[in-house]
Amino acid sequence: MKHVTTVRVICALFFVMIYAACKHDPFPAPAPPSQVPVSGGSQVCSPDTVYFQNKVLPMIISNCAKSGCHDAASRQKGVILTSYASIMSTAGVRSGDASGSKIYKMITETDVDKRMPLRPNPALSAAQIQLVYTWIMQGAKNNACQDCDTAGTIRYSIHILPLLQNHCTGCHSGASPAAGLDLTIYNNVRTVALNGKLRGVTTWATGFPQMPRGGAKLSDCKQELIRKWIAAGATNN
Ligand code: HEC
Repeated sequence: MKHVTTVRVICALFFVMIYAACKHDPFPAPAPPSQVPVSGGSQVCSPDTVYFQNKVLPMIISNCAKSGCHDAASRQKGVILTSYASIMSTAGVRSGDASGSKIYKMITETDVDKRMPLRPNPALSAAQIQLVYTWIMQGAKNNACQDCDTAGTIRYSIHILPLLQNHCTGCHSGASPAAGLDLTIYNNVRTVALNGKLRGVTTWATGFPQMPRGGAKLSDCKQELIRKWIAAGATNN
Protein backbone atom coordinates (compact mmCIF):
# COMPACT_ATOMS: atom_id res chain seq x y z
CA MET A 1 0.00 0.00 0.00
CA LYS A 2 2.82 2.35 0.88
CA HIS A 3 4.31 1.80 -2.53
CA VAL A 4 1.02 2.61 -4.24
CA THR A 5 0.75 5.85 -2.26
CA THR A 6 4.27 6.81 -3.26
CA VAL A 7 3.49 6.16 -6.90
CA ARG A 8 0.38 8.32 -6.60
CA VAL A 9 2.35 11.15 -5.10
CA ILE A 10 4.96 10.90 -7.82
CA CYS A 11 2.27 10.88 -10.50
CA ALA A 12 0.56 13.88 -8.92
CA LEU A 13 3.82 15.82 -8.88
CA PHE A 14 4.42 14.85 -12.44
CA PHE A 15 1.07 16.21 -13.58
CA VAL A 16 1.68 19.44 -11.74
CA MET A 17 4.84 19.80 -13.81
CA ILE A 18 2.83 19.38 -17.00
CA TYR A 19 0.84 22.48 -16.19
CA ALA A 20 3.79 24.56 -15.09
CA ALA A 21 5.71 26.84 -17.43
CA CYS A 22 7.28 25.37 -20.51
CA LYS A 23 10.88 25.89 -19.51
CA HIS A 24 10.92 23.22 -16.81
CA ASP A 25 13.42 20.42 -16.91
CA PRO A 26 12.70 17.35 -19.00
CA PHE A 27 11.43 14.17 -17.42
CA PRO A 28 13.85 12.65 -14.90
CA ALA A 29 16.57 10.52 -16.46
CA PRO A 30 14.98 7.51 -18.16
CA ALA A 31 16.08 3.93 -17.74
CA PRO A 32 18.96 3.04 -20.07
CA PRO A 33 17.43 2.50 -23.49
CA SER A 34 17.62 -0.88 -25.09
CA GLN A 35 19.94 -0.12 -27.98
CA VAL A 36 18.90 -2.92 -30.28
CA PRO A 37 19.62 -1.73 -33.80
CA VAL A 38 16.95 -1.61 -36.49
CA SER A 39 16.70 -5.15 -37.75
CA GLY A 40 15.98 -3.93 -41.25
CA GLY A 41 12.82 -3.56 -43.24
CA SER A 42 13.55 -6.74 -45.19
CA GLN A 43 12.54 -9.01 -42.30
CA VAL A 44 9.19 -10.77 -42.75
CA CYS A 45 6.60 -9.44 -40.30
CA SER A 46 5.69 -11.84 -37.51
CA PRO A 47 2.05 -11.46 -36.45
CA ASP A 48 3.04 -11.71 -32.79
CA THR A 49 5.55 -8.88 -32.87
CA VAL A 50 4.87 -5.16 -32.69
CA TYR A 51 7.45 -3.43 -34.87
CA PHE A 52 8.48 -0.01 -33.72
CA GLN A 53 9.31 1.50 -37.11
CA ASN A 54 6.22 0.08 -38.83
CA LYS A 55 3.48 0.68 -36.28
CA VAL A 56 4.56 2.51 -33.16
CA LEU A 57 6.65 5.41 -34.45
CA PRO A 58 4.31 6.59 -37.23
CA MET A 59 1.35 6.45 -34.83
CA ILE A 60 3.22 8.40 -32.14
CA ILE A 61 4.44 11.03 -34.61
CA SER A 62 0.94 11.50 -36.01
CA ASN A 63 -0.72 11.80 -32.61
CA CYS A 64 1.93 13.37 -30.40
CA ALA A 65 4.55 15.17 -32.48
CA LYS A 66 2.26 17.95 -33.61
CA SER A 67 3.39 21.55 -33.61
CA GLY A 68 3.06 22.92 -30.07
CA CYS A 69 3.36 19.43 -28.59
CA HIS A 70 6.26 16.98 -28.90
CA ASP A 71 7.88 17.76 -32.23
CA ALA A 72 11.57 18.70 -32.15
CA ALA A 73 10.81 22.44 -32.17
CA SER A 74 8.09 22.49 -29.49
CA ARG A 75 9.51 19.75 -27.21
CA GLN A 76 7.01 20.31 -24.40
CA LYS A 77 8.63 19.30 -21.08
CA GLY A 78 11.72 18.27 -23.03
CA VAL A 79 9.85 15.35 -24.55
CA ILE A 80 10.52 14.81 -28.27
CA LEU A 81 8.51 12.03 -29.89
CA THR A 82 9.91 11.96 -33.41
CA SER A 83 12.45 9.10 -33.51
CA TYR A 84 13.54 5.99 -31.64
CA ALA A 85 16.48 7.79 -30.08
CA SER A 86 14.45 10.77 -28.90
CA ILE A 87 11.62 8.62 -27.56
CA MET A 88 14.04 6.41 -25.63
CA SER A 89 15.89 9.36 -24.16
CA THR A 90 12.98 11.68 -23.31
CA ALA A 91 9.76 9.66 -22.85
CA GLY A 92 10.64 7.56 -19.83
CA VAL A 93 10.43 4.19 -21.57
CA ARG A 94 11.35 1.27 -19.32
CA SER A 95 11.90 -1.76 -21.49
CA GLY A 96 9.71 -4.68 -20.36
CA ASP A 97 7.78 -2.49 -17.89
CA ALA A 98 4.88 -0.69 -19.58
CA SER A 99 3.15 0.39 -16.38
CA GLY A 100 6.45 1.84 -15.16
CA SER A 101 6.99 3.76 -18.40
CA LYS A 102 5.99 7.43 -18.41
CA ILE A 103 4.83 7.41 -21.99
CA TYR A 104 2.44 4.53 -21.22
CA LYS A 105 1.19 6.16 -18.02
CA MET A 106 0.45 9.39 -19.87
CA ILE A 107 -1.59 7.77 -22.65
CA THR A 108 -3.59 5.65 -20.15
CA GLU A 109 -4.17 8.41 -17.56
CA THR A 110 -7.83 8.34 -16.55
CA ASP A 111 -8.05 12.06 -15.72
CA VAL A 112 -8.98 13.46 -19.13
CA ASP A 113 -7.36 16.81 -18.31
CA LYS A 114 -4.00 15.14 -17.79
CA ARG A 115 -4.14 12.38 -20.33
CA MET A 116 -1.94 12.58 -23.43
CA PRO A 117 -2.60 13.58 -26.13
CA LEU A 118 -4.03 16.58 -24.28
CA ARG A 119 -7.55 17.66 -25.14
CA PRO A 120 -8.98 18.68 -27.53
CA ASN A 121 -6.95 15.95 -29.22
CA PRO A 122 -8.71 12.62 -28.92
CA ALA A 123 -7.31 9.89 -26.67
CA LEU A 124 -5.44 7.10 -28.37
CA SER A 125 -7.67 4.15 -29.23
CA ALA A 126 -7.47 0.93 -27.23
CA ALA A 127 -5.69 -0.67 -30.19
CA GLN A 128 -3.10 2.14 -30.33
CA ILE A 129 -2.50 1.92 -26.57
CA GLN A 130 -2.11 -1.84 -26.94
CA LEU A 131 0.59 -1.28 -29.58
CA VAL A 132 2.63 0.84 -27.19
CA TYR A 133 2.08 -1.67 -24.37
CA THR A 134 3.15 -4.68 -26.39
CA TRP A 135 6.12 -2.87 -27.91
CA ILE A 136 7.44 -1.97 -24.45
CA MET A 137 6.77 -5.45 -23.05
CA GLN A 138 8.59 -7.00 -26.02
CA GLY A 139 11.71 -5.07 -25.12
CA ALA A 140 11.15 -1.60 -26.62
CA LYS A 141 13.32 -2.49 -29.60
CA ASN A 142 14.02 -0.39 -32.65
CA ASN A 143 12.71 -3.10 -34.96
CA ALA A 144 11.17 -3.09 -38.42
CA CYS A 145 9.72 -5.58 -40.87
CA GLN A 146 8.70 -5.64 -44.52
CA ASP A 147 4.97 -4.88 -44.55
CA CYS A 148 4.59 -3.34 -47.99
CA ASP A 149 3.83 -5.13 -51.26
CA THR A 150 3.07 -3.31 -54.51
CA ALA A 151 2.13 -6.42 -56.52
CA GLY A 152 -1.33 -6.63 -58.05
CA THR A 153 -4.23 -4.20 -57.73
CA ILE A 154 -3.73 -1.49 -55.13
CA ARG A 155 -6.90 -1.04 -53.12
CA TYR A 156 -7.97 1.91 -51.02
CA SER A 157 -9.37 -0.28 -48.25
CA ILE A 158 -6.43 -2.68 -48.05
CA HIS A 159 -3.40 -0.53 -48.89
CA ILE A 160 -4.11 3.20 -48.77
CA LEU A 161 -6.48 3.54 -45.81
CA PRO A 162 -4.20 1.69 -43.34
CA LEU A 163 -1.22 3.70 -44.60
CA LEU A 164 -3.05 6.98 -43.95
CA GLN A 165 -4.28 5.77 -40.56
CA ASN A 166 -0.78 4.85 -39.54
CA HIS A 167 1.07 7.90 -40.83
CA CYS A 168 -1.36 10.77 -41.33
CA THR A 169 -4.73 10.83 -39.61
CA GLY A 170 -3.46 11.60 -36.12
CA CYS A 171 -2.97 15.14 -37.44
CA HIS A 172 -5.45 15.12 -40.31
CA SER A 173 -8.67 14.29 -38.45
CA GLY A 174 -10.95 15.55 -35.71
CA ALA A 175 -12.52 18.92 -35.02
CA SER A 176 -9.61 20.97 -36.40
CA PRO A 177 -7.57 18.77 -38.73
CA ALA A 178 -4.13 19.99 -39.85
CA ALA A 179 -4.40 22.26 -42.90
CA GLY A 180 -8.19 21.84 -42.68
CA LEU A 181 -7.73 18.48 -44.34
CA ASP A 182 -9.48 15.45 -42.80
CA LEU A 183 -7.87 12.37 -44.35
CA THR A 184 -10.29 9.96 -42.67
CA ILE A 185 -12.83 10.96 -45.35
CA TYR A 186 -12.35 9.20 -48.68
CA ASN A 187 -13.57 12.12 -50.78
CA ASN A 188 -10.89 14.38 -49.28
CA VAL A 189 -8.21 11.79 -49.98
CA ARG A 190 -9.50 11.50 -53.54
CA THR A 191 -9.32 15.29 -53.98
CA VAL A 192 -5.67 15.56 -52.92
CA ALA A 193 -4.86 12.40 -54.85
CA LEU A 194 -6.22 13.83 -58.09
CA ASN A 195 -4.91 17.41 -57.66
CA GLY A 196 -1.34 16.21 -57.14
CA LYS A 197 -1.00 17.24 -53.50
CA LEU A 198 -0.93 13.72 -52.07
CA ARG A 199 2.00 12.75 -54.26
CA GLY A 200 3.66 16.13 -53.81
CA VAL A 201 3.68 16.06 -50.01
CA THR A 202 4.64 12.38 -49.68
CA THR A 203 7.47 12.49 -52.25
CA TRP A 204 8.71 15.72 -50.68
CA ALA A 205 8.50 17.46 -54.05
CA THR A 206 9.57 21.10 -54.28
CA GLY A 207 6.78 23.50 -53.39
CA PHE A 208 4.92 21.09 -51.10
CA PRO A 209 5.13 20.72 -47.31
CA GLN A 210 6.91 17.48 -46.40
CA MET A 211 4.56 14.83 -44.99
CA PRO A 212 4.33 13.18 -42.56
CA ARG A 213 5.29 16.46 -40.90
CA GLY A 214 8.23 15.94 -38.55
CA GLY A 215 8.57 12.28 -39.48
CA ALA A 216 10.64 10.25 -41.90
CA LYS A 217 9.72 10.12 -45.58
CA LEU A 218 7.47 7.20 -46.52
CA SER A 219 9.40 4.21 -47.87
CA ASP A 220 9.80 3.88 -51.64
CA CYS A 221 7.37 0.97 -51.50
CA LYS A 222 4.67 3.03 -49.78
CA GLN A 223 5.19 5.87 -52.24
CA GLU A 224 4.77 3.37 -55.05
CA LEU A 225 1.48 2.13 -53.52
CA ILE A 226 0.15 5.68 -53.57
CA ARG A 227 1.43 6.30 -57.11
CA LYS A 228 -0.16 3.13 -58.48
CA TRP A 229 -3.46 3.74 -56.71
CA ILE A 230 -3.69 7.28 -58.10
CA ALA A 231 -2.65 6.14 -61.58
CA ALA A 232 -5.52 3.64 -61.53
CA GLY A 233 -8.03 6.40 -60.73
CA ALA A 234 -7.85 6.76 -56.91
CA THR A 235 -11.09 4.83 -56.55
CA ASN A 236 -12.76 3.77 -53.30
CA ASN A 237 -11.94 0.15 -54.00
C1 HEC B 1 2.44 15.78 -37.16
C2 HEC B 1 1.28 16.24 -37.89
C3 HEC B 1 1.09 15.83 -39.34
C4 HEC B 1 1.22 14.57 -39.88
C5 HEC B 1 1.63 13.27 -39.19
C6 HEC B 1 0.88 14.69 -41.27
N1 HEC B 1 0.55 15.99 -41.56
FE1 HEC B 1 -0.01 16.72 -43.38
N2 HEC B 1 -0.01 18.60 -42.65
C7 HEC B 1 0.27 18.94 -41.34
C8 HEC B 1 0.31 20.39 -41.24
C9 HEC B 1 0.56 21.17 -39.95
C10 HEC B 1 0.07 20.89 -42.54
C11 HEC B 1 0.06 22.36 -42.99
C12 HEC B 1 1.35 22.66 -43.71
C13 HEC B 1 2.53 22.67 -42.77
O1 HEC B 1 2.50 23.35 -41.76
O2 HEC B 1 3.53 21.96 -43.04
C14 HEC B 1 -0.12 19.74 -43.40
C15 HEC B 1 -0.40 19.81 -44.76
C16 HEC B 1 -0.71 18.72 -45.55
C17 HEC B 1 -1.17 18.79 -46.92
C18 HEC B 1 -1.31 20.05 -47.74
C19 HEC B 1 -2.72 20.54 -47.69
C20 HEC B 1 -2.88 21.72 -48.63
O3 HEC B 1 -4.01 21.99 -48.96
O4 HEC B 1 -1.87 22.31 -49.05
C21 HEC B 1 -1.38 17.51 -47.35
C22 HEC B 1 -1.90 17.07 -48.72
C23 HEC B 1 -1.03 16.65 -46.26
N3 HEC B 1 -0.64 17.41 -45.19
C24 HEC B 1 -1.08 15.28 -46.31
C25 HEC B 1 -0.52 14.45 -45.33
C26 HEC B 1 -0.32 13.04 -45.52
C27 HEC B 1 -0.69 12.26 -46.76
C28 HEC B 1 0.25 12.58 -44.37
C29 HEC B 1 0.72 11.18 -44.05
C30 HEC B 1 1.64 10.58 -44.99
C31 HEC B 1 0.38 13.71 -43.45
N4 HEC B 1 -0.09 14.83 -44.10
C32 HEC B 1 0.87 13.63 -42.16
C33 HEC B 1 0.45 18.08 -40.28
C34 HEC B 1 0.68 16.72 -40.41
